[in-house]
Amino acid sequence: MSSKKIKEYINSNRRDFSNKPFNKEMAHDDPIKQYERWFEEALESKILDPYAACLSTVDFEGRPSSRILYIRDISKNGFIFYTNFNSKKGNDLNKNKYGSLNVFWPDLERQIRIQGVIEKVNNSTSDKYFNARPRSSQIGAWASNQSENLHNRAELEAKIEFFKKKFKNIEVPRPPHWGGYCLVPFLMEFWQGRPSRLHDRIVYKKESNKWIKSRLSP
Ligand SMILES: Cc1cc2nc3c(=O)[nH]c(=O)nc-3n(C[C@H](O)[C@H](O)[C@H](O)COP(=O)(O)O)c2cc1C
Repeated sequence: MSSKKIKEYINSNRRDFSNKPFNKEMAHDDPIKQYERWFEEALESKILDPYAACLSTVDFEGRPSSRILYIRDISKNGFIFYTNFNSKKGNDLNKNKYGSLNVFWPDLERQIRIQGVIEKVNNSTSDKYFNARPRSSQIGAWASNQSENLHNRAELEAKIEFFKKKFKNIEVPRPPHWGGYCLVPFLMEFWQGRPSRLHDRIVYKKESNKWIKSRLSP
């Protein structure tokens, strides 16, 4: 499709949001609990991949970079995801521990923005998750130098074969370069679409270890 056609399409499609209110009184005092409430509604609405989120990190020169990943656990501290520590995001986090997650559930007309400090989870948490993964994913974690150049697909497949043989008949150990990070939030915003772009935005900011709720202009 040409850019002109794309532009025509985009500009002729305007949908209004429905009229489901969200306000400070309805919002739980703890934003993680509020996330859990909305997550449950996302499940009830059969949203595809409700645990997918866009993670943004920033490199040492202040250049942001975003990618989708899966939030694999939620603790009272924050949001846990698993990845390769030597990836682009891992390198960014070595230099700059700040990051953000963005969850968009279009069917519910909802967005959740989360800003925080990202730290590695402890080894036993990473081990537990890694050990529960399918064997093919475990082998993949060894074979893929995530975010590094590959000459072709065959190079990756050869590495998969190499590690399949290496770990034949034994449990695949967690690679030292693979594990979990936890984004510990200091700000969370819950956005609910409303008609005429007059959306509801409730933001929580952590101040002196307490969450303070306020409403933002749409
Ligand atoms: C639906 C979906 C789920 C993904 N889940 C993960 C994940 O849990 N962990 C991960 O490292 N990459 C995941 N990815 C791949 C990332 O988007 C990205 O390509 C990869 O992490 C490398 O990013 P980086 O080069 O910025 O480090 C997922 C991609 C999609 C589209």
